[in-house]
Amino acid sequence: MRARLTTALTGALGLLLLLSACPSNDKTQPPAAHYGDKQAALASFEEPERDAWARPAQVVEALKLEPGADVADIGAGSGYFTRRLAQAASGGTTYAVDVDADFKRHIDGQRARWGTPNIVTRLAVYEHPLLPANSVDVVFISNTYSFLQDRAAYFRAVHSALRPGGRLALIDWRAEVQCPRHVGCPKPNQRIPKAMAKRELAGVGFAVAEEHDFLPYQYFLILTREQDAGRRKPAVRPPSRTTPSRPTQPSATPRDVKSPR
Ligand SMILES: C[S@@+](CC[C@H](N)C(=O)[O-])C[C@H]1O[C@@H](n2cnc3c(N)ncnc32)[C@H](O)[C@@H]1O
Repeated sequence: MRARLTTALTGALGLLLLLSACPSNDKTQPPAAHYGDKQAALASFEEPERDAWARPAQVVEALKLEPGADVADIGAGSGYFTRRLAQAASGGTTYAVDVDADFKRHIDGQRARWGTPNIVTRLAVYEHPLLPANSVDVVFISNTYSFLQDRAAYFRAVHSALRPGGRLALIDWRAEVQCPRHVGCPKPNQRIPKAMAKRELAGVGFAVAEEHDFLPYQYFLILTREQDAGRRKPAVRPPSRTTPSRPTQPSATPRDVKSPR
């Protein structure tokens, strides 16, 4: 009896192991949802050599941010882009959105040193950025697209967080390039090819407005909402100090967004 039970348990365990090792039918595999060693992850996002290929100054310049723009950096990590976005749009609020409480704490701790009091950190959930509807002018996402699981639902929320004339900037890994070791690209089967990202985002109402080719290992798209097509240019908003619709002290929790949990 005990032998039969042991055999059955061993069989079930074997089946479970086999199932978890099986590749799914998807062509792409999401990277692990979170980081084991947070300090190592923060250090890798801030690798001194990174500027040479991530070209953050050129990226931020290409965005042509209004000085009073409100920006959300989704998957902010160490704040590598957040602080540069916040410096370029110093009259607006830059939200550092991440699911990792340690990364949030890191940015909270660095904000004063960076001279960017306009950064507001937001602890999001995996399924939703928790940005209120109609609350930001630009959503920026670097190296985070493949972490998002139900991207259609996620980017519908991003779409509704954007104000009329708002823009979505997406930087992610080119599927076709071979990266040198120090760049730390994800495995090819963890990357979302540019054509796939465009297709997915078109499905939720985004149209590609600009494509920049200056990043050697990544694609860089700027998208607008299809419903804004025909608008001559995004609304030009004065610095937020003179804008009554934006609170000067943003609340820690978005008001009109409920966590899906
Ligand atoms: C590879 S890092 C990129 C960090 C930063 N954007 C950069 O370019 O340096 C991915 C980041 O996305 C965050 N992340 C993962 N899943 C997320 C989700 N569903 N929503 C928001 N952030 C997420 C991780 O915690 C991590 O900080």
